[in-house]
Amino acid sequence: MIRAVVRGIGSYLPERVMQNAEFANDLGLDTSDEWIRERTGIQQRYIAAHGQTTADLGYEAAKKALAHADCMPADLDLVLVATSTPDLTFPSTATMIQHRLGMSHGAAFDVQAVCSGFLYGIHLASKLIEAGAHKRILLIGAETFSRILDWDDRGTCVLFGDGAGAVVLEAEEGSERGVIHSVIRSDGAHKDMLYVDGGPSATGTVGKLRMLGNAVFKHAVKDIAGIIEQCADEADVAVTDIDWFVPHQANQRILVAVAKRLKLRPEQVVSTVASHANTSAASVPLAMDAAVRDGRIKRGDSVMLEAFGGGFTWGACLLRY
Ligand code: UT7
Repeated sequence: MIRAVVRGIGSYLPERVMQNAEFANDLGLDTSDEWIRERTGIQQRYIAAHGQTTADLGYEAAKKALAHADCMPADLDLVLVATSTPDLTFPSTATMIQHRLGMSHGAAFDVQAVCSGFLYGIHLASKLIEAGAHKRILLIGAETFSRILDWDDRGTCVLFGDGAGAVVLEAEEGSERGVIHSVIRSDGAHKDMLYVDGGPSATGTVGKLRMLGNAVFKHAVKDIAGIIEQCADEADVAVTDIDWFVPHQANQRILVAVAKRLKLRPEQVVSTVASHANTSAASVPLAMDAAVRDGRIKRGDSVMLEAFGGGFTWGACLLRY
């Protein structure tokens, strides 16, 4: 049996750090560092520089993942980019990064599932590898959500940040490691709770992010806990036997509520929400990279990834690193 093994991982954050206090002090919003920390766990976020795009962030993360995997772009046969903030409506951000990597072989395309994009990407990439269609896939989650925020809306602009993370997935025959199981879900009935109010076909504009935060919160906790249990059950693994949980980093209170429901120990749950905020499709690979770099996640450890976002979309993936 062929498995999709994570051969390398890397991430990139832009230079500019924006602190919570700036929303009140510099933007004049009726909010505070205390409110943001208490209700979300967020302390700061990274913001892309003027002119720095999603492809720029994704390319930097890709170079780090390739170096960690000891791979050259020539070794890849597919580039996938999970993003909802592409540089342009088209061509895809993936083809831009493919070109920047010097690749004129293989294929590249974007995956759009908002905050669940990386989970959709890993589901797709692992199935393509298991089917024998591709040998080595670069999967990137990259976002510049700062470009689609309404900076006058305190209910949303304090929550998000920019960044990118990437993995190189490689086919390995008979491996104990790699993607064990993944599940993706969506339900378009809840579109109005989390959406962007513009797009090429509807308005001819880019639009701004709109969210009914409290309603999304409740769906997120229920659906994330449910899909983790489903993924573990279908893989015939007890949730409590999994070494690490790398969740989508939307709100520390969501991480705590899900961990409580599933009886996880807090130290099993990787959290970067305090420093990265919500980076949408980049949040899971950014968090996983942080835990690989600081030595928590080691080769052979079992890891459950999960995400929830606009659509609604949600997903989970159990892998052995
Ligand atoms: O990545 C996609 C998934 N996204 C999520 O999972 C986000 C899910 N939602 C959340 O993280 C939380 O719902 C929020 C952090 C967005 C909001 O926290 P909450 O505890 O659900 O608060 P709330 O929306 O019920 O609002 C409580 C109060 C309201 O004031 P009133 O109506 O009680 O007077 C809000 O207007 O907090 C107010 N509020 C703020 N106050 C200070 C909302 N945003 C802010 C703010 N600063 N930044």
